[in-house]
This record gives sequence, C-alpha cells and structure tokens, in this order.
Amino acid sequence: MAIKRSSSKSTPPASRQPKKPISGASRVAEKMADTDSLARAFPSNAIKAAEYGRNGALNPPQGQSEEAPSNDVSASTLAEANSNDKTGNPADAGENPNNAPLEKVRVDSAGRALTTNQGVAIADNQNSLKAGLRGPTLLEDFILREKITHFDHERIPERVVHARGSAAHGYFECHEALTDLTMAAPFAEAGKRTPVFVRFSTVAGERGSTDLARDVRGFAVKLYTDQGNWDLVGNNMPIFFIQDAMKFPDLIHAVKPEPHNALPQAASAHDTFWDFASLMPEITHMLMWVMSDRAIPRSYRMMQGFGVHTFRLVNAQGESVFVKFHWNPTAGTHSVVWDEAVKISGADSDFHRRDLWEAIEAGAYPEWELGLQIFTEQQAEKFSFDVLDPTKIVPEELVPVRTVGKMVLNRNPDNFFAETEQVAFCTQHVVPGIDFSNDPLLQGRNFSYHDTQLSRLGGPNFHQLPINASIAQVHNNQRDAMHQQAIPRGRVAYEPNSLGGGCPFQAGKMGFMSFPEPLRDDKLRGKPEKFADHYTQATLFYNSQTPAEQNHIVDAFRFELTKVQTPAIRARMVAGLMNVDNGLASRVAQGLGIGLPEPLPRVLAKPPKPEVTRSPALSLTARPGDGSIRTRCVALLVADGMDGAASQAIHDALTAQGAVAKYIAHRLGSVRPAAGEAIEADATLETAPPVLFDAVVLPSGQAAINALLKNGAAMNFVKEQYQHCKPILALKGANALLAAAGITPRWPDGSADPGLLVVSGQDDATAAKAFVKAIAGHRYFARQMDPSPV
Ligand code: HEM
Repeated sequence: MAIKRSSSKSTPPASRQPKKPISGASRVAEKMADTDSLARAFPSNAIKAAEYGRNGALNPPQGQSEEAPSNDVSASTLAEANSNDKTGNPADAGENPNNAPLEKVRVDSAGRALTTNQGVAIADNQNSLKAGLRGPTLLEDFILREKITHFDHERIPERVVHARGSAAHGYFECHEALTDLTMAAPFAEAGKRTPVFVRFSTVAGERGSTDLARDVRGFAVKLYTDQGNWDLVGNNMPIFFIQDAMKFPDLIHAVKPEPHNALPQAASAHDTFWDFASLMPEITHMLMWVMSDRAIPRSYRMMQGFGVHTFRLVNAQGESVFVKFHWNPTAGTHSVVWDEAVKISGADSDFHRRDLWEAIEAGAYPEWELGLQIFTEQQAEKFSFDVLDPTKIVPEELVPVRTVGKMVLNRNPDNFFAETEQVAFCTQHVVPGIDFSNDPLLQGRNFSYHDTQLSRLGGPNFHQLPINASIAQVHNNQRDAMHQQAIPRGRVAYEPNSLGGGCPFQAGKMGFMSFPEPLRDDKLRGKPEKFADHYTQATLFYNSQTPAEQNHIVDAFRFELTKVQTPAIRARMVAGLMNVDNGLASRVAQGLGIGLPEPLPRVLAKPPKPEVTRSPALSLTARPGDGSIRTRCVALLVADGMDGAASQAIHDALTAQGAVAKYIAHRLGSVRPAAGEAIEADATLETAPPVLFDAVVLPSGQAAINALLKNGAAMNFVKEQYQHCKPILALKGANALLAAAGITPRWPDGSADPGLLVVSGQDDATAAKAFVKAIAGHRYFARQMDPSPV
C-alpha cells in the first residue's frame, strides 16, 4: 500500500532529472515559468469539500498531486546539481534515506586513525597541550576540550519508569494471513517477516539496579512494518495496578524509593507502596500477580508478554473486533525462588541481561508465539467484567488464545546506548488495522510516552534516531527543531500546496483511519460500574495456582508486609486480602503475627457471577516449555581425586543437549582426577555461587568427596541447590555429600524426589538421560518446607 507518485530511486523521469547548468538568468526564468504552470494545475483545493460532513470523514480523499514540469521547480536551489564530496547528488525523487536499514549509520573503525569530531586526525591521545613539559595546560588545546566536553555530556536522563532494561533485534513471522480481521501489515500473508526490536525491563529500579527485583517486567516490541512502526508496549503480566491514567504518577511515586531518603532501591517492600496499595482496592488482582513467581522470572526468555489492554483489529472493510495480545515463550514459563533472587542480585545483578545476551551469542535464539484473543463488542457486553478495565483478564476458557505467528530474537544490538537506551516505544504508534479501545489507562499512555521522550531524548526529532526510524518512508511538513537529521529539499513545508505539486499529499483511505466508534455520552469524570468489582479475578488467580505457587504468594506477602514499618498498613492490607481468600489472609496474618481484621468494605456488594472460577492457564506450570534444556546452566563440582571420566561423560551429554556445563572448583587451574587427564576449572565456588546454576552434578571418587565434605562453600552449594528445588545428580558415592547436607532423597510426604538422582548401579548414559529430563522439569517445589530442615 506504499503511496508514491513515481518510483525513481535510480532513474528519475526525464522531467525530474536535474537540468544541465545553463546560464543563470534564463534558468531562473524557466523555473518561474514551470512553477507557474504547476500551480495552474491546481485551480482550487480539490478536496476541501470533503472536510465537512460524515461522508467525507469516513471517506477521506487522496490529496491532489501533480508531477512538476521540471525537477528545478521542487528544488530548494538551482545549484543542487553542483555536487561535491560533501553534498553528494540531488535527492532521489520521493525518497527519504533516513529510513534505510541501520547499516547506513553502523560505524567500524578498523584500520582508521583517531580523529576529532571534525575529522581531524589526532597525533597524540596521551598528553594535553602544555607550555613546556612541566608547564600549565593551554586553553588552546581544542582536542582536549572537545574530548572532555563530550564526555561531560555523555549521560541522558533515564526513563522515569522501566529505566533498567535490555534489548535485542529479531523478526516476527506470521503463520497465516489475517486479512479477514485486520489490515495490519505484519498479518498480510503467511510467512511474512517483519523486523522487530524488543526491550525487556523492570519498572521501579534505576538504570543500574538489579535485574532480579520483585517487579513487573516490561515487554516492549517495536515492529518495523512496511506501513510504519507499530509498538506493542506490554508487560509480562496481563493486567495492571490501576484503572485510570490519572493514578499512574501516584502509583509510581508510591513504589519508587521514598522521597526523603531515596530508599529502597528497586523494591516494593516499603511503607509508601503498601500504604497506596491498601487504599486502592482495584490493585488487588495485580498484587496477586506481583507477589507470584511471575515477578522473579528465571530469564526474559522464559516469561510471557501481554499487550494488557483491549485493542481493536480493523479490516479493509472497516469492520472491527476486539483483541488481546499474548506472547508465549517456546522455552516455557519459569521462575527462580525468592531467596535465590535476593542472592542472584548480589552474585550477578546483570543476570537477565547476561542471560539474554549469551543465549543470542550462542545461537540459542529466544522465541515466542503470538497469540490473539479475539472477541466482538457484542460478546464483550455480556462478560461479567468490563473489557476496558485493565485490571481484568479475559480468561482463556472464555475466549481461547489463537496462535498466529512467532517472534524470534536473533541479533544482539551493536551498541547499548545507541539502540537499547535511545529506543522510544509508544503505545500510540499503531498502523492501519490496529486501533485503540477506550481503556482509560491506554488513553493516558497514548499521551505519556511521546511526552516523556521529548525530555529524555532532547527534542521532537528523536523519531529520526536510527533505532526509532521506521523502515517505511517518512514524508511530512514538520520542520526544524533540535537535532534535525534530515535535509528536506524545496521550499514547500505546508499542505495544501501547488508549488510542490501538492506533495506530500494526504493519503485518503489508504492512510490510517480511526475506527468510527459511535459515541454519545455526558462529559464527566468517573468509571463504569463493573470496574468496581475489585476481588473476583484476584480470587480466580489465587485459586488457579498450584499449592506451591500459593505458598510463594503467601511468602511474598509476608516478606513485603514484614518490611512495612507501620502496623496499620499491614492490617489494612490483610483486610483487603480477606476479600480474596480467607486462607490466604489468615496465613499472611499469621506470618505477620496479627489477628484477622474485618474485611475491607467492598465497593460492589454483589459482583456479577464470574464465568470461570479456575483458569489453569494462569499457573506457570501450564507452560513447561518444549522439553529442551538448551542454555540451562549446570555446575559440575570437581576436586582432586575425582572420577574424571564419569563427570566428563555427564558434561559431554549436557553440552550435546545445548546446556552450558561448567566445572566448579575451590580454585582455578587444573583438577587432578584419580585417573586420566586433568580437568580445567571454569570458575570457583566463590565467583560462581549456586544461585547462578539451574542444576548441579556431584562427583564420584572418594578423595574428591572427602575434600568437598570438608569445604563449607561446597556443602553450602549442595544445600542451596536443594533449598532452591533444583535438580541434583549425585554420581556414585556422592550421596555422602547429600547425607552430610541433611538431604534425604524423599519428599516430606514420603514419595521419591524426582529432582534428586543418585547413581548407584546404572551406567553414566542412563544417569545422564534421567538428569536431562530432570533439568527440563526445572524445579521440584514439593521439597519445600517452612522452615526448611536443610
Ligand atoms: C497510565 C499508565 C502509564 C503511564 C502514564 C506510563 C508511562 C510510561 C513512561 C513515561 C515510560 C517511560 C518511557 C520512556 O522514557 O521511553 C514508560 C515505559 C514503559 N511502560 Fe508505561 N506507563 C503506563 C502504564 C503502563 C502499562 C499498563 C504497561 C504495560 C502494558 C506499561 C509498559 C511500559 C513499558 C514496557 C515501558 C518500557 C518501554 C521501554 O522498554 O523503553 N506502562 N511508561
């Protein structure tokens, strides 16, 4: 649907070719005559009448455009044909090269000398210019001043929220054409690929904060479609804390570090957040999600993404349906446990950033399927909840998720600042075929993103930054402003015009048209009645979790509220939980050492009966993944005197499956097995603590086992792997290490622990196979006891 009058990138039509340099006066006269002739082709504004009335609004005409009699007419200057190494040639007709692929700005310094920003080669990059070897530095040193000045201004403001993040390039591929539902370019035909740039983030922490904070994760996808950029700026949870954009600054002020002492960093476990939360009952459903394991994902690659709001799909006939967007990871949905998250924050606060980077570098490209929940306005009216309320999901049992494509991230950025930091997502970036619903949070977001980016990125031209530029052509009459990168040709910067041949002209029905939703209502501030049901879906979420997941929610509430210093806030919060589930409320109250308060008053005394009271899809266990252990990190503890061949066999078997297996020893260097070749340690117990691994292998060989039994760090490794419910493989004889750590191969209920594999008689290959299966199972939560006996 590209709208272009003439496609002349390489060979402009004869009339557009630059005139040969002829005598100045006659060329000026010719230009004036040609200009007049072009202007005469527009005797009036041919589309003016369409500005009035409903019919015109629904059928905007394409603007009039005429080809100029000569290229000189639209040129800024008759001198444009005089090219040199700097000016290059005149612009190609209808082309904006700012939208070319990123290679246009990618820089490689191989074989080049250092220069100043003016391109002057720098002779000495070690010394400033001085009056004598021991004399003062001279103001004249423009090389020093340029370098220091640029350095002084290297930082830009961090995002006001979602400051901490990591990103990657990739593509979205559509499985089937969805033209019956939407004109959106990515869904035009089966197999069509659209480039994407995806940024994952936490919300509350500052740019340098830990990846493993308990928090919502941002999941922002920029699709560079051939019809312009479409940003699906979502999160890893399908709902939000509040119902109206009016409350967003309050929410963020409550959760961010408190204003008087800037404490705590990247944490909701403090008074102001829970004060606000306990006074805002609509937050309750989201609190269930944020207190669940979803808030501490194992990897960005192992979490879902959601568009959150209800959006519209619009087809070429102008028909619209509602849609909810879901990204489902091929690797499954997996999390860490809270104690682990806390320790990872110390051991490697870049854990998620490193994980994403290393997976892509290793060729293990993360993948998600895109799922759509599609429903009509008529269906939506009958739901027990309001689809415009961003604190509500549409249960998958009510509207199934239809998989329509997949997204693959297969390229790390070249430069963190230029790409990940400068990328600017915005919910109002939509393309024909996608439209908004009246969700009051979405409507507010549509204002907020561009507005904040004006100050973060320093002016209104940040859409020209290479990472933000669309791959679709950009032509409009916007002018000037800070950091303008384009050099628009000609003197016309308004529409309608005749002097520019009418270009760029309005696209008419080929352009973006808002879905003409009929509206007639009072102007007022308020919310629909169904928004007042604050608890039904919170209960649905809690009831849909496995017992282990419910325990984690209880533990998270206990942790957060124990950190709260004001008893009245704790009690108020528990009073809110009484409206979700009595068991939940009493377990949290017990953990806080308080009695059960009266439930908070409900705004809606009798909420509509929900269609669904359990939704298995809401449990993380609903998506175990594809059974692969690619990229899982496994530690093999090693010590002198070990059975080298046995550990080596497991190491090879794991590596063959795509896992990252590492030998961990007391010190770096060679470990001498009882027989065979030395094994080189990859890392030490000190630098690679257990929380950085998904599983552990304990060696056989009596001397090695004896050494590990005497090593507190090694024993702690074994204990923590167990406490964090991870698979453990004890090679022959290594059950002594388990016994010394107080670990029994049985769950508290007496059944065998499938995550704990002890080799006795079987061969290494059988043990390796069973271990791979155990790693794919991720975690064995049935081990957990409160308090833990290990
Ligand atoms: C009225 C409610 C909201 C407002 C006013 C708001 C505002 C903002 C602002 C100002 C930023 C920083 C943007 C930048 O500097 O580039 C941001 C980032 C972000 N917001 Fe929101 N937000 C709201 C709700 C939400 C919701 C409901 C979601 C999820 C559906 C969300 C997802 C994100 C994400 C993923 C980012 C990070 C984008 C990136 O990676 O650069 N926000 N938001």
